[in-house]
Amino acid sequence: MLRPVVLSLTNAALLVSASAYSKNVSHCPGRCNCVRGPWLYMLLIVDSTGYTLTSLAELQHGLSAQLQLAGPACNAFGSDIANLTLEVTYQSQSTIRVAVFDTAEDQFRIPTSIIPPPPLPTESLINDSDLVFNYDRSPFAFWITRRSDPDAMPIFDTRISSLPATPIPPFNASDPSTAFDGFPLVFEDQYLQITSALPLGTNIYGLGEVIASSGFRRDIGTGGGSGTIQTHWNRDAGDPIDENIYGSHPIYLEHRYNETTGKATASGALLLSASGSDILLQTPPGSPVSLIQYRMLGGTFDFYFFSGPSDVDVIAQYGAVSGYPFMPPAWGFGFHLCRWGYHDVNDDIANVEAMREAGIPLEVQWNDIDLYHAFRDFTTDPISFPTDEIRSFIENLTTNHQHYMPIVDAGIALTVNDTDVVRACTSSPLFRVLPFPSTH
Ligand SMILES: *[C@@H]1O[C@H](CO)[C@@H](O)[C@H](O)[C@H]1NC(C)=O
Ligand SMILES: *[C@@H]1O[C@H](CO)[C@@H](O)[C@H](O)[C@H]1NC(C)=O
Ligand SMILES: *[C@@H]1O[C@H](CO)[C@@H](O)[C@H](O)[C@H]1NC(C)=O
Ligand SMILES: *[C@@H]1O[C@H](CO)[C@@H](O)[C@H](O)[C@H]1NC(C)=O
Ligand SMILES: *[C@@H]1O[C@H](CO)[C@@H](O)[C@H](O)[C@H]1NC(C)=O
Ligand SMILES: *[C@@H]1O[C@H](CO)[C@@H](O)[C@H](O)[C@H]1NC(C)=O
Ligand SMILES: *[C@@H]1O[C@H](CO)[C@@H](O)[C@H](O)[C@H]1NC(C)=O
Repeated sequence: MLRPVVLSLTNAALLVSASAYSKNVSHCPGRCNCVRGPWLYMLLIVDSTGYTLTSLAELQHGLSAQLQLAGPACNAFGSDIANLTLEVTYQSQSTIRVAVFDTAEDQFRIPTSIIPPPPLPTESLINDSDLVFNYDRSPFAFWITRRSDPDAMPIFDTRISSLPATPIPPFNASDPSTAFDGFPLVFEDQYLQITSALPLGTNIYGLGEVIASSGFRRDIGTGGGSGTIQTHWNRDAGDPIDENIYGSHPIYLEHRYNETTGKATASGALLLSASGSDILLQTPPGSPVSLIQYRMLGGTFDFYFFSGPSDVDVIAQYGAVSGYPFMPPAWGFGFHLCRWGYHDVNDDIANVEAMREAGIPLEVQWNDIDLYHAFRDFTTDPISFPTDEIRSFIENLTTNHQHYMPIVDAGIALTVNDTDVVRACTSSPLFRVLPFPSTH
């Protein structure tokens, strides 16, 4: 599975900052002050004025409200969207959904056919759920508290008054995009930003897929740590440390210890978004709080907050929204053999025989994309993996109660053949065609 990188992007924000630097800043509209020191990139954001809540309707399971851009558009990395809709839904005893999207609904959202929203409860939980949605009208901000502990530090809190004073210089001096110049809610067609305060040095897990040098507990910038920039951008990279790899799971679990009560509780926050993003965990010097900041290249905000209170509860509550994992077959836990670089079907045959001779109970033989004709999924290479031989190979495995698994690669090869079968798929807006290195 280790292959040359199909798409290399280490830091989605750097792409954004590159486009910002190329803007002709003297054309910044409104009262945006665009040239003010070295952190040009973030300065475009600080002058965003956020949003004002202009109307609100209480609904059986929550509320719906209109948000309007509070000042002139800043258009830092695209166009500020003037009118937003806020939808708050008390989904279950444990789960609140907070969605902020463009009222015109032009921004991409994960289709509900792919991840259906969980069913609504039969009774309204507005006054009974574990979590409570609170908000300020102007500038619009929200915070999530536990009903049982309303005075404790909120689970999620976007109020500027809860966040450290800005501007905060870049925490990486060589990377101006790591400055925090302000914490307004930003909602543009190509850039979204929202920030929440977290308890100082709290325990954050998740935001995968990643192999983090800090271990399972993410580096939040306390205790000698330098903080985290977790990019969410699926990428065919084997096992780099502290980088984005194959999958994106923008959910974190917070495990919080209260020194007064001596009790620990867990909560969770899912951002249901497919947008390329950076999620930052950081504790600015001298700040009484740590923070999480989401920087997205598109889409909408669609948060689910889970009340726990145990770690296992949070994962179960997340499963109720995202869908539960499938029950793997018993043989899935056995020995599997796979690599990228089998030359032809004879390598498969030789592997299975060598395992049998060595007394190793091989359950599953795999093929990587070597199997395919010009790396097209769902094909077989006519020379090295002829269909009839692969079929015979699989039949023989089946006779021996063994199994076969072909990899299906999300990176579809770009071909120039208009009659190619993948064309039908790649013309769909759901697919992005990536050039595949021709050296293999
Ligand atoms: C920026 O815009 C001004 C005003 O139109 C123009 O004079 C200037 O040449 C532009 N600068 C660049 C770098 O494009
Ligand atoms: C935003 O909503 C206001 C009030 O409904 C409306 O007057 C305005 O035209 C809308 N702006 C855009 C850009 O849709
Ligand atoms: C929730 O409580 C408020 C204030 O007591 C009350 O007006 C409202 O009807 C209650 N809503 C539901 C759904 O029980
Ligand atoms: C700890 O719990 C107490 C009692 O519920 C609460 O008053 C306090 O605010 C909590 N501390 C934090 C840091 O949340
Ligand atoms: C700081 O930023 C530079 C430039 O992007 C990068 O090469 C370097 O790895 C960063 N340092 C850390 C500790 O992340
Ligand atoms: C499958 O088994 C049959 C019978 O032993 C053998 O003739 C054939 O070559 C095998 N096919 C493959 C692809 O291993
Ligand atoms: C395009 O693909 C079709 C189907 O695989 C094949 O028959 C045809 O020869 C290909 N044409 C070219 C120019 O490669």
